[in-house]
Amino acid sequence: MADAFSGKGYVVTGAASGIGLAIARALQKRGARLSLWDQNAQGLAAAATQLNAVHSLTLDVTDVHAVQAGVAEAVDKLGAIHGVIHAAGILHTGLFEDVPLKIHRRILEVNLLGTFAVAHIAVPHLKARRGSLVLFGSAAAFYGSPEYSSYGATKAAILNLAQTLRIEFAASQVHVGVVNPLFVSTPMFNAPHGQSRLSASKSPFAHVYTAEQVAEAVVRGIERRQFMIWVGLRPRLIFWLSRYASLISGAIMARTWRG
Ligand code: NAI
Repeated sequence: MADAFSGKGYVVTGAASGIGLAIARALQKRGARLSLWDQNAQGLAAAATQLNAVHSLTLDVTDVHAVQAGVAEAVDKLGAIHGVIHAAGILHTGLFEDVPLKIHRRILEVNLLGTFAVAHIAVPHLKARRGSLVLFGSAAAFYGSPEYSSYGATKAAILNLAQTLRIEFAASQVHVGVVNPLFVSTPMFNAPHGQSRLSASKSPFAHVYTAEQVAEAVVRGIERRQFMIWVGLRPRLIFWLSRYASLISGAIMARTWRG
């Protein structure tokens, strides 16, 4: 039987690094045809060559005109878009007051407005193919996490957006999935501003996953058209606690952070 991904066109943003790159690699192994996007031209060129991408595009996902042109180019090169995996994002940990307002603002722009732009512009093409739209939240979406103020706020908003889109697009059979991983060892996480007292904690809640584990979950999630795409058990537990035992969740968070 032919692979479900074979010959189908997928756009992966944030494809030059970490999770996006691992997803692109996993899709390529399954025979998908790729349009890879990132703002890091050098990393993107290396990824595109390594993965034999049909198309690659250096762009900033907050640039609406560039995203419009990118989607048009991707349709042209791929023939059709069967899925968009939007992994581009940024993180800058730090106490709320210590992080300059312009950095908070950039995180809101890239993570939230970038997601709105990519989703809004790609969706008409996904409707044409009953395709998949996969967005990236984070376990930081579930409960406000110290040192992740702007990042966590964007991820909570992305989870909320995904819930809305899932309902709005049900009739057109567009699959909406949202991934909310815990810590993942990538250049983002391993950078000085990817670390925090939470990530450095010895708590079992501070487990670090691999980008390959996320990629495997995402590919499976697309295949099964899952809404919540889980990577391991810990994020599920954090989600459950934050929803049904919010005060306990807050107490665990505070204790983990204080060490
Ligand atoms: P990464 O930093 O390794 O890769 C992100 C990629 O996005 C980079 O190649 C970067 O150049 C690109 N990018 C950033 N801003 C961009 C922009 N404005 N336009 C175009 N490209 C841009 O990060 P990682 O860890 O692979 O993150 C992927 C996604 O997973 C992000 O949305 C992140 O928030 C999310 N995530 C990551 C976790 C982690 O611990 N690494 C945990 C939970 C979620």
